[in-house]
Amino acid sequence: MSSVLRTSRIVAARVAAAGAPRTAGVSAFRGSFAARNAAASVAVRAFSVSRASFEKPALRLGSPAPNFQAETTDGPIDFHEFIGDSWTILFSHPADFTPVCTTELGAFAQLKPEFDKRNCKLLGLSANGLESHGEWIKDIEEVATGGTKFNFPIIADPERKIAYLYDMVDHQDLTNIDQKGVAFTIRAVFIIDPAKKIRLSMLYPASTGRNTAEVLRVLDSLQTGDKAGVTTPINWIPGEDVIVPPSVSDAAAKEKFGEFKAVKPYLRYTKYPEALLKK
Ligand code: BEZ
Repeated sequence: MSSVLRTSRIVAARVAAAGAPRTAGVSAFRGSFAARNAAASVAVRAFSVSRASFEKPALRLGSPAPNFQAETTDGPIDFHEFIGDSWTILFSHPADFTPVCTTELGAFAQLKPEFDKRNCKLLGLSANGLESHGEWIKDIEEVATGGTKFNFPIIADPERKIAYLYDMVDHQDLTNIDQKGVAFTIRAVFIIDPAKKIRLSMLYPASTGRNTAEVLRVLDSLQTGDKAGVTTPINWIPGEDVIVPPSVSDAAAKEKFGEFKAVKPYLRYTKYPEALLKK
């Protein structure tokens, strides 16, 4: 089927869905969001589906992070200006006022001082408007931040433009033409470096909350690797031995790191490179 025809069928199906009663098979949970958002999402989804099919930039590790302008709870931003000379974690959530998301946002707010120490900004995203975000933040502060004031911006993306740009949707949300009426965004995490390159992406389903310690651990690994020219083994945390990459000869490793231990010629460990990290 041609893409134009396919898109127009999706539009037709969504127009029908927006006006139709919800079927019993669609959960009440999704239904409450659909009631609020269905009408607005019809036109936007058609636009987004066709854009997503033809104009999406690559989101590979090492790709430039696509720029965008957005409204956030701390005011409007240009994403690349927001990044500036910092590392940035851009992460999405299915929707405001949902349980798992509430715990995640609270946990990231509590850990923000650790991200600050690593020159890393946090930027959340969910597919709701600013007013909704503002009300939700009050709830997050009440139940999930352990007394910390909420401390980073959340993008308002009710039309899912940025969600589509960064592919923060699942397979069903790009292709289904049933009566669901609204697409939740998934739990995506992007770590973007000061050169505005994507350095990590992680995708989680809506049903599974992320692990803040893992996000911080990968950031530590990336920053350690960039500064000291090492890689990090399974389950590594800062302070533990690191790996000398295969591209470094034994002679160069000795000069750079002093001692190293060769378990195999291709698997060489050296001490946590504290001195190199301080430079
Ligand atoms: C949650 O945050 O709990 C959630 C959101 C959307 C779908 C499923 C769970």
